Amino acid sequence: MKNLHIMTHPLITHKVSMLRNIDTGTKDFREIVEELATLLFYEATRDVPLEETSIDTPNGTFPCKVSSVKFGIVPILRAGIGMVNGIHNMMPNAKVGHIGFYRDEKTLEAVEYFCKLPLDVKELDVFLIDPMLATGGTAIGAVDLLKKRGVKNIKFLCLISCPEGFENLQKVHPDVEVYTTSHDEYLNKAGYIIPGLGDAGDRMFGTK
Ligand code: URA
Repeated sequence: MKNLHIMTHPLITHKVSMLRNIDTGTKDFREIVEELATLLFYEATRDVPLEETSIDTPNGTFPCKVSSVKFGIVPILRAGIGMVNGIHNMMPNAKVGHIGFYRDEKTLEAVEYFCKLPLDVKELDVFLIDPMLATGGTAIGAVDLLKKRGVKNIKFLCLISCPEGFENLQKVHPDVEVYTTSHDEYLNKAGYIIPGLGDAGDRMFGTK
């Protein structure tokens, strides 16, 4: 599937299985989410352009390559927060924005309630992060907001995706590539991904 990058490395699959396990507690859950976020980011930055320059080393001046791309990390509240450090540790100069949505109980539409983005967000390559790509509603809303602010390059990083969410996102934003550690079977009527891992926010923050 164009634009869907599924990480199939055995260590990643092993860690996703640990997340799915109902007996994995909040501390381990949070740590694994961070580790997987780092690995997703590593994969999603494979195509970052490099520029030729030179650098002074202890052995003299040598040609080398560096990246001057400016990165933005934008978690979708609240569960996206659990993925931030795993990426920020790899790229400490990245700027971090936050976008919050709630689901309207009548219409079931995603409604924005918070948006704080870096002032220069349109110059950043943005990694939009949320552990679960379920209906796709919040992902679509968040990409809408970023595009309205002039962002051109957006990649969506999640831990678990499903066909419904991916297809909905692609219908509206076919330019957004999705990186996931597992593309699961389906979305149930309650909006949970099956088999999934339950409510990512609750498992991360111990709210249930
Ligand atoms: N959000 C979650 O936390 N889990 C799901 O399965 C779907 C959406």
